[in-house]
Amino acid sequence: MTHHTNDQMPAYSEAVKSGLYAKQSGLRGKYDNVRRLWEDEITRHYIRPHLQRLIERRRQSLRRVRILDLGCGSADGYELLAGIRDRDADLEQVEVDLLTREVLGLYKGVDLNEDLLRQASEIYGGQPKMVFEQASFTDGLPIADDEDPYDLYFSSFGTCSHLNDDETMIRLLTEIAERTKDFCLVHCDWLGRYSYEWQDLWSLDLSENRNMDYVVSYIYEKEEREARRDELQHLTLRLVSRREAEDLVAEASRRSGVPIRPVCFYDRSVFTGRHIDTGDYNPAPQGIRNAVNSLHEVNLRTDLQDLLFDYAPKPGFDFLNQYYERVQACWNYLVWYVGELLKLYEEDRREFAGPLPTPPAACPDVVLDTLERMRRVVEGTGWYGRGLPRENIIEPQLGYALRHIVTGLQQGQGCGHGLVCILEIDKSAERS
Ligand SMILES: C[S@@+](CC[C@H](N)C(=O)[O-])C[C@H]1O[C@@H](n2cnc3c(N)ncnc32)[C@H](O)[C@@H]1O
Repeated sequence: MTHHTNDQMPAYSEAVKSGLYAKQSGLRGKYDNVRRLWEDEITRHYIRPHLQRLIERRRQSLRRVRILDLGCGSADGYELLAGIRDRDADLEQVEVDLLTREVLGLYKGVDLNEDLLRQASEIYGGQPKMVFEQASFTDGLPIADDEDPYDLYFSSFGTCSHLNDDETMIRLLTEIAERTKDFCLVHCDWLGRYSYEWQDLWSLDLSENRNMDYVVSYIYEKEEREARRDELQHLTLRLVSRREAEDLVAEASRRSGVPIRPVCFYDRSVFTGRHIDTGDYNPAPQGIRNAVNSLHEVNLRTDLQDLLFDYAPKPGFDFLNQYYERVQACWNYLVWYVGELLKLYEEDRREFAGPLPTPPAACPDVVLDTLERMRRVVEGTGWYGRGLPRENIIEPQLGYALRHIVTGLQQGQGCGHGLVCILEIDKSAERS
């Protein structure tokens, strides 16, 4: 009789049970490649200079940075902020975080959802400078009367859109301004009113379609999404344009009598938001997020045709149509150009087989610069042969190049999945 058991097998069973043996995919899920390599990184990119100045201010006054994460969920915001690198660090340095342990005074995460808070506590609960609290930010600023104010009020990934009526948002900002002693930053993150993902909901009259019925349908693949239609979760979320954000801030500033100054607006995920391919609010969905996820996935070859964007203009919205047409043209040109580079490149001779295409005269500098960089990437790595240079070097670089041009062309108008506004409240001048 043969024995099918072996005393070494429990080691494998244990490994499977730990979950750490599961195949990780960046192609889908909350933490897909676009989330980690585009959305988190773009958020870091824009907040970095402001956080750096804040840290320096606190250092000068011999104080550390206190952060309040509003709607912290499982504290991804902490991971995001802790992942910001100090751009002044040298390449050979290993300790390159901007928000080091010495700099952080306190991180307090507030959320309404118990399950997410439990998850946050499981991950970070052991850390003495991280606290979590259950509270609703619609009931006012969740800080006690005798609690010191914070230096950074942070919200991420559309959390401010949970404040459905303007009054609550204005009250929250007013309270933050009133409680500020000296200086603080506020990072407001809404859903962009004019994202292509929900083109059906665009309206010129800003009193219309203020809140959308946001279906969390994108977490499933197409077929499962349709099969589960009736049981999908819905959220009511405020859609915000730049003008509306400016009005909310101006009103809070007026009420508090404190200058609240927007220092940065940006659109995050212009073509790559989570709803880009669901068709839930747009009759012409595009599978762009999937294709970008694929660019960044190890060992996976992407059909570059899947990256081509076909924007459908909406009559009456020429100010948006013009913007989107331009981004689309630049995006598609870069994809096509890289396809041509791959076709022309001869691995054996380690050079291009003929002259490279001449970019259209109207190409903005950010695109020209990116085309040149992609030429160098293909030329510099295309000959490696082993290790799948196309899949593992050139395609991810194309992903970063696309990220570079959409970031370079965005205007912070509410045309991305997320509209972010960074505010500065500075009372130091009036005190001195
Ligand atoms: C889009 S999620 C963002 C979560 C997290 N910050 C992240 O980056 O992944 C929005 C979060 O806001 C929380 N939230 C919604 N309404 C809230 C309220 N009134 N008070 C506190 N938290 C709320 C939700 O529970 C959820 O965790």
